[in-house]
Amino acid sequence: MFRISVILFILSLAISNGFIPHPSIRVGGQAGGSITHTEITQIAFVRTLARYLLETKALQKYEVENQEYTIDDLYALTYPDWSKEKLHLQTYPLKSVLDTLLVENAMVDIDQWTKKLPAAHFDSEAFSNASRRMIKMRRIIIDDVKNGTKDLIQARQLLGQLLHTLQDFYSHSNWVELGKKTVNERLGIYEDIGPVASPNQPTCTSHGCVAKKVKCSFLQKVTLNKCPLKYYECKDNIRPEILKKGLLTSGYSVNQHNEDNEPIFKPTNVEKCSHGSVLDTSSHLPAIGGINKDTIISIYSPHFDLHFEAATMAVLATERYFNDLRKDLGDDDFDRLFALHPTENEMNAASKAVARMRKFRFFTSSISSGISMGKRLVNNIRQMAKKRLNKLRWALFPNSNDLTIEDVSFRRRRSLNF
Ligand SMILES: *[C@@H]1O[C@H](CO)[C@@H](O)[C@H](O)[C@H]1NC(C)=O
Ligand SMILES: *[C@@H]1O[C@H](CO)[C@@H](O)[C@H](O)[C@H]1NC(C)=O
Repeated sequence: MFRISVILFILSLAISNGFIPHPSIRVGGQAGGSITHTEITQIAFVRTLARYLLETKALQKYEVENQEYTIDDLYALTYPDWSKEKLHLQTYPLKSVLDTLLVENAMVDIDQWTKKLPAAHFDSEAFSNASRRMIKMRRIIIDDVKNGTKDLIQARQLLGQLLHTLQDFYSHSNWVELGKKTVNERLGIYEDIGPVASPNQPTCTSHGCVAKKVKCSFLQKVTLNKCPLKYYECKDNIRPEILKKGLLTSGYSVNQHNEDNEPIFKPTNVEKCSHGSVLDTSSHLPAIGGINKDTIISIYSPHFDLHFEAATMAVLATERYFNDLRKDLGDDDFDRLFALHPTENEMNAASKAVARMRKFRFFTSSISSGISMGKRLVNNIRQMAKKRLNKLRWALFPNSNDLTIEDVSFRRRRSLNF
């Protein structure tokens, strides 16, 4: 019971602020078929790993067109003579690194400071702020890894946090609504990420948004505590002149604060967009509604019908970020950052963890991807969401292994002021 109440508590904290952090959490939010930060990051990494192994000529027999590979599959193809046990042990350090990335990524929505910081989510038109924040983090990651004597804990934590912000760009801004078919290559590299609507320029209209009011289910009563549920479904509520000029905008939300802990409010003298969701009371101020694409259900996402497009774009952007990081670090340092070929110390730690049957917090071995692009990726993502939904239905109950008390009582110590 303790466990369930803790999980419900976390659910209530976590379901409002970006792609949903982790599969177990979306069940409580009833957003079962939505793609989470956890999945976006893992799919992207599998694609980057495949590319790395192919380009370093480690991997010979890769079927580019019609195959999906997990991390284990890729290692098995690269090292066909390894036993199952050896493969398990050798890939353990990499999986632990990814687990750290995934937990840190999810924590951006749960941590008291970052969950309401627009610069951590590309909210409230904080475009240069968010990109600046990513640039700072990237610099520390690169310095730490290139140092050679520093341990890589901080670099891995920051990378997980930074990817959260990168991924949110596609579900919180109007990039998808602008009809973009490729990722924004400037995010986290330049402070100026492209033409942005000015502060006194209206960006949304209330037309196109339909108000909804529905009764709460039991779970919603516990997790949301706002019954009946009042929210909006919106279509074409971004102003045509914004779309015509190709200007970026993103949604405002309630209770946000900037980097100096000063409050950020949705403007009342000009019609700006809201993030929108049953939890975002700013969505009742004009322009009513909102534009987020975090989930496939309208209670949380006024633009729910664009969720898969946003999630696909987030996968491609994350993959590109990993690939760029590899270019900047060089293959050896990239390898070290992810423990692709673990050191003796990492192998010793892995043996101990395996002997103790330690479980990963968020990492899921079964996630796979090919490296083909475009439509196929979208279809795969949709299918994966459907397939996994059934498994996740009972994730909230005590004999599930999906979420342990360690995950939810986890507290991040803040050493850097981000
Ligand atoms: C590398 O890291 C060590 C240990 O944290 C630090 O003392 C040293 O100054 C760093 N070197 C450089 C070149 O930054
Ligand atoms: C962006 O940063 C500036 C300067 O630090 C700050 O004044 C402003 O409030 C921030 N904007 C948002 C939306 O966080």
